[in-house]
Amino acid sequence: VSLVSCLIAVSQASIINRCDLARALHKEDLDGFEGYSLNDWLCLAFVESNFNISKVNENADGSFDYGIFQINSHYWCNDYRSHSENIYHEDCQDLLSPSLLSSIICAKKIVSGAGGMKNW
Ligand SMILES: *[C@@H]1O[C@H](CO)[C@@H](O)[C@H](O)[C@H]1NC(C)=O
Repeated sequence: VSLVSCLIAVSQASIINRCDLARALHKEDLDGFEGYSLNDWLCLAFVESNFNISKVNENADGSFDYGIFQINSHYWCNDYRSHSENIYHEDCQDLLSPSLLSSIICAKKIVSGAGGMKNW
């Protein structure tokens, strides 16, 4: 039984609990950032990744979306396998970090641009 529960724990390690995520986003001042509430950010993370920190998804154009906010390699980061503007000057793999720090910093830049959260 303990082996099974251990395996389950490992396979779910990439999923962050909603409250832990809320705490992390609040700590990095996303609550109210550019007028978006903590709920807006939680909703965005849920819709984009289902709270899966390590989610990577390939798009029809060959680019990839990374992490909790599914940030796109075509514009924001370099994944060394698809064309990238690399606006954020960041390794896409960093957007999968359990600390969430790179994803949060990048999300702040994206939401600060014209269109705000509509950029997603
Ligand atoms: C999280 O995303 C990774 C990468 O896309 C995937 O392999 C993994 O199965 C996902 N985890 C869950 C619990 O869906």
